[in-house]
Amino acid sequence: MSHKLTVLISGGGSNLAAIIQAINAGKIQNTSIARVIADRDCLGKKHALNANIPFNLIDRHLAYEDFVDALTDAIPTDSDLIVLAGFLSIIPETLIHQYHRKIINLHPSLLPKFGGAGMYGKHVHQAVLDAGESESGCSVHYVDSGIDTGEVIAQTKVSIFPNDSAETLQKRIAIEEHNLLVQTIEKLLNG
Ligand code: GRF
Repeated sequence: MSHKLTVLISGGGSNLAAIIQAINAGKIQNTSIARVIADRDCLGKKHALNANIPFNLIDRHLAYEDFVDALTDAIPTDSDLIVLAGFLSIIPETLIHQYHRKIINLHPSLLPKFGGAGMYGKHVHQAVLDAGESESGCSVHYVDSGIDTGEVIAQTKVSIFPNDSAETLQKRIAIEEHNLLVQTIEKLLNG
């Protein structure tokens, strides 16, 4: 039986691109992306369009109930896994129940450290540097009703160098994020 992914994005979509490449290269086996959904106009949509993957834009500025309805309608109900790959909107409670342990998120820190409201993009890496940490990394976790609080599935650690800035740390972690996300998807779907 083949597996179906739904991928949700808000930004550049480098992780979406990594998933598409991994499927094409057989690193994620027996799987296709059924749909990509963005909550804003973003660069990442080009990866979906170039790969002929059905794409929906569901504006995060819609009235909340309309946003929830549109998002619910857009997600194929036979999705085996819903991957938040840089998706910045909060997932509605109803979807968390409907897709129990089927929604995963990627976060650029070693959760539970440096997660929660406001912890996205460079803010995460700046907070890590400000705290004087000697290592950081990335995490894939199940999505629950909190922000970045769900059970951690897998992590990769990255050393912090004395001359690191939020930008250099972000770049180094992004490479690891792509690998971690691809490996975790393959493991969850194909064991
Ligand atoms: C990644 O750093 C991910 O951890 C975070 O958002 C970023 C998405 O990057 N949740 P991209 O849009 O996949 O390039």
